[in-house]
Amino acid sequence: MSDHPLDAIFDRFISSPSIFKNHEVLRPSHIPDKLPHRDYEIQFLGKALGSALRNNRPSNIFLYGKTGTGKTIVSKYVTKYLQERANSIGKNIIVSLLNCVEIDTDYRVLARLCDLIGEPVPFTGLPTDEVFQRFKAKLDSKKQLLIVVFDELDKLHQKSGDNVLYQLTRINTDLKKAQVSLVCITNDLSFKETLDPRVRSSLSEEELVFKPYNSLQLEDILAERAKEGFHEGVLTEGVISLCAALAAQEHGDARRALDLLRVAAEIAERENESKVLQSHVRKASKQIEKDTIQEALISLPVQTKLVLWAVYVLEKSTLKVITTGDIYKVYLELCKTTGLDPITPRRANSLLNELSMLGVVNTKVVSMGRYGRTTKVSLSVSPRQTRNILCEDFYIKKVSDFNAQTLLGKD
Ligand SMILES: Nc1ncnc2c1ncn2[C@@H]1O[C@H](COP(=O)(O)OP(=O)(O)OP(=O)(O)O)[C@@H](O)[C@H]1O
Ligand SMILES: [Mg+2]
Repeated sequence: MSDHPLDAIFDRFISSPSIFKNHEVLRPSHIPDKLPHRDYEIQFLGKALGSALRNNRPSNIFLYGKTGTGKTIVSKYVTKYLQERANSIGKNIIVSLLNCVEIDTDYRVLARLCDLIGEPVPFTGLPTDEVFQRFKAKLDSKKQLLIVVFDELDKLHQKSGDNVLYQLTRINTDLKKAQVSLVCITNDLSFKETLDPRVRSSLSEEELVFKPYNSLQLEDILAERAKEGFHEGVLTEGVISLCAALAAQEHGDARRALDLLRVAAEIAERENESKVLQSHVRKASKQIEKDTIQEALISLPVQTKLVLWAVYVLEKSTLKVITTGDIYKVYLELCKTTGLDPITPRRANSLLNELSMLGVVNTKVVSMGRYGRTTKVSLSVSPRQTRNILCEDFYIKKVSDFNAQTLLGKD
């Protein structure tokens, strides 16, 4: 027998079976055969897009609803089957699902669509108008229907405006053989108001709102996925309902519920358990929260990190109440040491508000008697975690030992 230092670990993997029957099934990218509690939405989209099978151009459709309510999965589910049925009867229907988080410029949208209809264009370089003309000509070279699904459309709009949307909503009047239909998806409920009125009315010939799931509906969704994803009996009593209840706390987000279940099972495996317990779900919940904060902190712009670092060092001082004035004073010192140009107090306050919206700091307006009102600020994430993440930053590293105490004593 060998006595390799990894034997104990690897032997455990070999001798005890995995909790997961099929890990993939629990990932967001998986499209399950059944989507519980979305019958109405599936039928709605099916009826709207189904007219394509009869040669009618489907109306443009707008889908909105909060995050994790099934907009993307329902669109994929319906268009996938529509494509299958169209192929089986020899109808020329092309579906393009565009994730606007990645495809966020007019050029990228058109280049992707060109690619799909067999008119490849270079990644960059051509004027956008020319790409559009090429796209239009190629598309109209035969009888076909193109359905473009803009997922997270607000991201494209935010970055590049509504030029390409405007062109695509008008394109059918110029086409002789081909037709284009659009499905637009967003989780930003106020987004529609920001669109140009002409674009808005053409995009939302039909609309559907996806409501958040309640906790019982989330249980059904999880139970369905669990049947395929886990070996029988590995989820102990109450695990699914706890995941569902936790995910329903803010709003019924199915992504959150699935993440909780998957991460809980991963933790159970790591702890060498053969079953998933409620305690694993609670650990998963903490871990996911930590990961979310971590991601938010890492990606902050440097000035925002500096403002947050000012809050951090003040929390470490003896100061009982931290005001925006204190923060700005410390912030200016941090700028001096790091060599960064300071922003105005007003701008610093708006960065504080952004941090508050992210849930990283708490702000509260308090009365100071005859001195008027001020905003009291505190950290709402763990100071240790804040320090660990921010100190990875090149500039924050330079002020990692900054002590606010001396500064506060000055006046
Ligand atoms: N009814 C359902 N049945 C099974 N799985 C579902 C259902 N609804 C949502 N899901 C799953 O939940 C996750 C989130 O769903 P989806 O991506 O469709 O949300 P969304 O509404 O597009 O959210 P966002 O606005 O954040 O993009 C996915 O993994 C999806 O598979
Ligand atoms: Mg989505």
